[in-house]
Amino acid sequence: MAKTYFKDDANLDLIKKRKVAVIGYGNQGCSQALNLRDSGLDVVIGNIDDEYLVRAKKDGFQTYSIKEAARKADLILLLIPDEVATEVYYRDIHEELQAGNVLSFASGYNTYYGHISCPDFIDLVLVGPRMGGPDVRVRYENKEGFVSLIAVEQDHSGDALNIAIAIAMAIGSTQGALMSSFKEETIIDLFGEQLQGMALYTAQLAFEVMVEAGCSPEASLMELYVSEEVSDDWRNCAKIGLWKQLRGHSTTSQYGQLTRGELSAGEDTRELFLKVMDDIKSGKFSREWALEQKNGMKVYDSLVKRSLAHRINQVEEDIRKILNHGKESAT
Ligand code: NAI
Repeated sequence: MAKTYFKDDANLDLIKKRKVAVIGYGNQGCSQALNLRDSGLDVVIGNIDDEYLVRAKKDGFQTYSIKEAARKADLILLLIPDEVATEVYYRDIHEELQAGNVLSFASGYNTYYGHISCPDFIDLVLVGPRMGGPDVRVRYENKEGFVSLIAVEQDHSGDALNIAIAIAMAIGSTQGALMSSFKEETIIDLFGEQLQGMALYTAQLAFEVMVEAGCSPEASLMELYVSEEVSDDWRNCAKIGLWKQLRGHSTTSQYGQLTRGELSAGEDTRELFLKVMDDIKSGKFSREWALEQKNGMKVYDSLVKRSLAHRINQVEEDIRKILNHGKESAT
């Protein structure tokens, strides 16, 4: 079992005496900064001059340029998109690091692929919530907590693990901080995202087949995901169990799922998964993505354009109208 840490394992004094700079005030930055402040930490924000900076000021934080914030802090949480983090790190943070500082990432991506390499006189840790940014705040406020993966890449102080645990608890990971590594966090994060992409294309393909079979586009999409029955099934997988939740379905449904479902999980799919995993582990995906950004995101832009041009988008709009009308007539 992965070693997991809880609130009782955390010594918040280890980080309370430090000046904390949260770099970035977006999805994660905003929520984590607010949670850290409410946990009693001394937090400032480092941000470029954009709308996120305005939001940080409005939330009452002392704000600085990224370079200045990094200079002032002993503990730096780098919470900006992975695509820009390398450039920002070398431009504004690298030179400002002092012996004994702690640098914390929410993703292992840039370190694992060797894009960012830190001096050996700092602690380098990872605290990666398995939760979207807004929910990191909501769940902290509701005292529900969430799970984070934690990892230590460099332990200069000898206390890096305890510091990672303290950060994890201070941002609200009270459901557990699971010991991981920068490598593992990167692999499961990318694989999980890419698997989700396969599910999206599968849903679109299923929609096309259902419509070709004469089903109405609206009823088909309702069945596939719009009614949220499927989201409930996935929620039940998390709460009850992948297979145990099947008991909540009719026997006909269970038989269909158990027999037809397995057809999509044969050797071909295994081969596909292995290829996707290999591209992640070998760095092929990361190199391809870096090249794509360098070449002006042409492939990305055309795929986004193609996805939004698919008929499914219009059908979703039509269904939204039906559902809104239904809501209005119910009140
Ligand atoms: P985000 O897209 O919300 O970040 C926005 C922030 O980045 C803003 O403060 C903006 O000023 C700053 N920023 C954008 N471009 C910049 C540039 N060129 N130079 C300097 N600052 C720039 O990012 P998000 O989603 O909060 O991700 C932050 C980190 O957290 C990433 O490492 C991500 O992998 C990780 N993470 C994200 C999760 C999520 O649910 N979004 C979940 C767990 C980890």
